[in-house]
Amino acid sequence: MLAVAILAAGKGTRMKSALPKVLQTLAETSMVERVLNSCSGLNPDRKFLIVGHQAEKVKEKLIHFPKLEFVIQTPQKGTGHAIQQLLKVLRDFKGELLVLNGDVPLLKSETLRRLINEHRRSNASVTFLTTKLSNPKGYGRVFANKNREVSRIIEDRDCSEEQKLNKLVNSGIYCFNWDQLAKVLPNLSTENNQREIYLTDTVAMLPLSMHLEVEDPGEIKGINNRHQLSQCERLLQERLREHWMENGVTFIDPSSCTLNENCTFGIDVIIEPQTHFRGNCRINNGCKIGPGSLIINSDLGESVSILYSVVNEAIIENNVSIGPFANLRPGTKLDKCSKVGNFVEIKNSSIGEKTKVNHLSYLGDAKIGKEVNIGAGTITANYDGINKHPTIIGDKSKTGANSVLVAPINLGSKVTVGAGSTLTKNVPNNALAIGRSKQLIKENWFSKESQS
Ligand code: UD1
Ligand code: CA
Repeated sequence: MLAVAILAAGKGTRMKSALPKVLQTLAETSMVERVLNSCSGLNPDRKFLIVGHQAEKVKEKLIHFPKLEFVIQTPQKGTGHAIQQLLKVLRDFKGELLVLNGDVPLLKSETLRRLINEHRRSNASVTFLTTKLSNPKGYGRVFANKNREVSRIIEDRDCSEEQKLNKLVNSGIYCFNWDQLAKVLPNLSTENNQREIYLTDTVAMLPLSMHLEVEDPGEIKGINNRHQLSQCERLLQERLREHWMENGVTFIDPSSCTLNENCTFGIDVIIEPQTHFRGNCRINNGCKIGPGSLIINSDLGESVSILYSVVNEAIIENNVSIGPFANLRPGTKLDKCSKVGNFVEIKNSSIGEKTKVNHLSYLGDAKIGKEVNIGAGTITANYDGINKHPTIIGDKSKTGANSVLVAPINLGSKVTVGAGSTLTKNVPNNALAIGRSKQLIKENWFSKESQS
């Protein structure tokens, strides 16, 4: 039997935030969700989350995780005290207890599997992950012999200057034999600098404690402050970009681009500098995105090009060209080979095949047909102050520069709208619509001033 306990009750004082520490995010997913994900493949029989500080907020965020049991720790008297809360719930449990710190989010599932296998093979009371750090400040130091047997862990604050020179650090990831741990848990003391009950003290009390060094120290990086948060974000972004580079994506300036695990890319995608992907994005083969673009929850077909633009909750078909400086808002659908040019804003509108909206337009709640040319400065006046209204334009129509289409309005196909028109009435197919005052010419007219 395997049980997992994630420690997430601490306040995270060093983060200086109104948000509980474990809800801080890395690539848009909270630390604690990352920790939960890292152990979901292990199929544990029981899964506990120890919560305390702002417990309701943490619970609310994680309520959708199947089989997750919340255990309350109040007050929070340390990591050992947190695990003591399991003594009742796991009274008759036989097997291993995997303990994970909620603030160590880059751990890989393979490493956890290795830890459990190693633990089972060695028959130790506890096996825990360690690494050697050139700057071990803040971490508990692990004192072990060559056979990986550990005599004790001493927290940074409790170390003598000499002990601080030890670079082997505790990750906060342990696989315990529950029976043996349960016996020593009640005997933990608070004789340390912080007057807390430390889980780390159990290693000196158990019959056989072993450690397992991980090769990549990045994996067990703990996050206590915003500096460490930013370091982990960087490591995670590097991992994500490396994955996609191995799968056919070119990053011109990798470190200037960010993404997350819910973004997928086809082959021969070129990502120019300062380009970011948020939420769920699906980017197909041959797209060229950036520089300077933000893509959020959007689907891009093949060979789409985007330059200095924001694309948010949009569906873009093959061979569409966007930008520079377009703002595509939720509900935008661009059909294949269409083009959206500079300083164009589109919201909740569909744009037909080969249609062009090249300059300075706002299209909202509009349905535009195929091969339409939306002239520079065309605006759909879709909002009357209370309600939003639709604009429909048929295939092969053309709007002149600076047209205002006051919605609700329906323009047929092959309609031409004269430049500078303000249209308030529907226009039938094949018609020319002009809605502006006639130009006056008064010949041989001079102002009085110019005559004197
Ligand atoms: C802990 C370890 C240290 C290790 C480091 C690795 C102890 C005593 N020290 O130190 O050896 O090198 O992690 O990152 O365990 N928590 C609770 N209840 C509490 C206190 C903390 O649930 O009463 C949770 C926190 O929310 C956090 C985790 O336990 O997720 C670790 O607590 P933290 O205070 O960050 O421990 P560290 O000082 O980093
Ligand atoms: Ca920590």
